[in-house]
Amino acid sequence: TQYKIAVVVGSLRRDSLNRKLATAIAKLAPPTFSFHQVEIGDLPLYNQDDDGNQAPAVKRLKAEISGSQGLLFVTAEYNRSMPGVLKNAIDHASRPYGHNAWAGKPAGVIGISVGSLGTAMAQQHLRNVLAYLDVPTLGQPEAFVQAKADLFTASGDAGDGIKAFLQGWMDKYVAWVTRLAV
Ligand code: FNR
Repeated sequence: TQYKIAVVVGSLRRDSLNRKLATAIAKLAPPTFSFHQVEIGDLPLYNQDDDGNQAPAVKRLKAEISGSQGLLFVTAEYNRSMPGVLKNAIDHASRPYGHNAWAGKPAGVIGISVGSLGTAMAQQHLRNVLAYLDVPTLGQPEAFVQAKADLFTASGDAGDGIKAFLQGWMDKYVAWVTRLAV
């Protein structure tokens, strides 16, 4: 079986550490897994008035989620929560009511920040939202990564200081998705 994973990066920044983390960790998965970072930067601000006529970018996002067997959220932390761009994307694909694209897709949550708590608060808020959206989310191991030099190599791989930890996380994630994918 092949597993397609929709990766949602909670940062639009050009040199986003979270995008680098998403790229590096994807390389640690077995060949039966493929990872695709979905675009959320061109989504309009969510407006319930548009539920009956969703923008093309919203339809594209929903199709990418629906066509995947699993989800990977790699999020920054803004002011002790998830960035608005991520929440906006989550809200879009959860609607219209009764057509929640996220439902039932097994997920993992990780993140990196410059702060010592390593996105812990953002991830906890995100888990709360995912629980409501009926997304079964890997509980352990948790991955709260603090930015340091040499976390990533020039070729975008995980550096020696973090590679074993990320591999351990990925192994659990792969088992989780394999068990729960429908
Ligand atoms: C931050 N940052 C931050 N870091 C953190 O650990 N906890 C926090 O609550 C916040 N709050 C916050 C708010 C806003 C508006 C910005 C712009 C930044 C710092 C953050 O970790 C840093 O900018 C990371 O580089 C963001 O991730 P990306 O964009 O590199 O993926």
